[in-house]
Amino acid sequence: MKLIITENYQDMSSKAAQYIVDIVKGNKSAVLGLATGSTPIGLYQNLIAAYKGGEISFADITTVNLDEYIGLDGTHDQSYRYFMNDQLFNHIDINKDATFVPSGVGEDMQAIAEAYTALLNSKVQDVQLLGLGGNGHIGFNEPDTAFDSTTHIVNLKQDTLEANARFFANIADVPTKAITMGIQNVMNAKCILLVASGKGKAEAVKAMIKGEVTEACPASILQRHSNVIVVVDKEAASLL
Ligand code: F6R
Repeated sequence: MKLIITENYQDMSSKAAQYIVDIVKGNKSAVLGLATGSTPIGLYQNLIAAYKGGEISFADITTVNLDEYIGLDGTHDQSYRYFMNDQLFNHIDINKDATFVPSGVGEDMQAIAEAYTALLNSKVQDVQLLGLGGNGHIGFNEPDTAFDSTTHIVNLKQDTLEANARFFANIADVPTKAITMGIQNVMNAKCILLVASGKGKAEAVKAMIKGEVTEACPASILQRHSNVIVVVDKEAASLL
């Protein structure tokens, strides 16, 4: 695991974005595994700037996202599809048909989950970007998710609902279920790039890097991946 500690959020965002810029420069048809949440927003702004500056093109890039809320379709402004369009895809030259976010709406969610895993097996991520939950989750793989899990439906834990309530009018509006890539789907990526910022992530960063590898802390499995880059600001690194 390569650990980079930055001065602040801006620095974390630009350093982490540089890894993705380099991958895209080296492979114009790379598969990028992407994440939502607050943490990668600055990174996405750096990618947009690299595109607008003529440094990179996304024309032949494919993206696969980690997760989606169950019950929100892509037009809902809190859906992760909406987030990706709004924060990244609408501002770059990507072919939207090559951007995949698991669907949170459908009659047979189990079939949707299995189809997403099949898609991931056919489009292996050259890099998988991850944020980190305060409880150590990656994607929506909450504590005690099996390390060999593939795409599945989850009941979100109370602390995750509380953390995500900031984006909704009130906590009762936060969907209680999500569809997420499993831990095995994440671990299949050729490279994993995890970003974390702020004191609220310090315990989880410590458990991920220095704790035992245990399903109680999903991110601890990253210790077993051969190509992981962790970029955190100094507050998130404060307990290391
Ligand atoms: C998002 C995701 C989540 C977030 C995590 C951190 O697609 O899968 O694991 O990365 O909850 O969220 P933020 O960045 O909002 O603190």
